[in-house]
Amino acid sequence: MIRITEVAPRDGLQNEPTPIAVAQKVRLVELLHPTRVDEIEVSSFVSPKWVPQLADASEVFDAIAASKPEGMVYSALVPNQKGMDNALATNDRAGFKLIDKVTVFTSATEGFARKNTNATIAETIERFRPVVRAAQQNSLQTRAYISSVIKCPVDGDVEPAQVATVTQMLLDIGIDEIDPGDTIGAATPDNIGPMLEAVIETLGNDRMSDITLHLHDTFGLAAPCVRVALDLGIRSYDGSVAGLGGCPYASTPGKRAPGNIATEVLLNTIESAGYTTRVDRPALDRAAAFAASIVETTRA
Ligand code: HMG
Ligand code: MG
Repeated sequence: MIRITEVAPRDGLQNEPTPIAVAQKVRLVELLHPTRVDEIEVSSFVSPKWVPQLADASEVFDAIAASKPEGMVYSALVPNQKGMDNALATNDRAGFKLIDKVTVFTSATEGFARKNTNATIAETIERFRPVVRAAQQNSLQTRAYISSVIKCPVDGDVEPAQVATVTQMLLDIGIDEIDPGDTIGAATPDNIGPMLEAVIETLGNDRMSDITLHLHDTFGLAAPCVRVALDLGIRSYDGSVAGLGGCPYASTPGKRAPGNIATEVLLNTIESAGYTTRVDRPALDRAAAFAASIVETTRA
């Protein structure tokens, strides 16, 4: 059984230039419930100056609290203590563990760490220490994204050893799950294997289930990369309905790059390779149609 995390409400929407109403974000999450994806990455508790589109994270979580399905994992991005405080306050208001998992994020490269978080890689790790401690105290799971694992929009090509080093730094502070991110969609069936092997070797074979793969589909190569990852034993993937989430660093004026691998494409790829998921296809198609419509409305 392959695990799927739906990231459209976060990665899919975070770069949309015009505000999307809380009600539409809530509707998207609620349409994702019947898809039976394993996890929904709902939003980010980051600086509203850096990501204005997700400044409403608390409101969105408050609004979906009543409809959270049994067994569903909700996660949120948290870059530092302040973000963690906001996530914990959200759970306090709900009166139960509404947010099950907090996800920190750094980079395999110094250039992207600086651009995305105004910090060195080492500084991001120091920010995560108290976040992980608080997560453990509150029985929340932790995940860490490592961005730019194949190519960095600032620093260029990335060696698998760099990804291994950052993976080890994250394991050393107690992160549960590692999520290598191909931020600009530079992965190919040739270069994804060595990167994943470096991550697998760092975690050890007994922790294969703690690896999730996050692909962007900028050049249409995400599906063949998933096939390579499946062969290597990766059993957890991020997808974004309707392929929402075009990376601004991969776009040119007037032409937006395709976004995250579409969850529909991910599902096709997984099923055609002979694996199963919990996902309900018709429900996924309904969620994808709605997701596309709110982005189109916003763009119009
Ligand atoms: P900074 O400006 O260096 O932070 O940003 P600071 O600590 O100096 O604080 C500056 C101001 O931000 C202060 O407010 C803080 O209170 C506030 P002021 O006094 O000026 O009014 N602040 C916050 N507000 C709300 N929530 C917070 C928070 N922290 C500080 N958590 C920081 C550093 C990390 C906060 C900033 O760089 C940031 O928020 N970055 C987020 C960038 C981001 O979300 N990027 C997208 C997600 S990563 C991604 O998409 C890649 C991924 O998909 C994987 C892949 O594809 O590779 C995950
Ligand atoms: Mg991403």
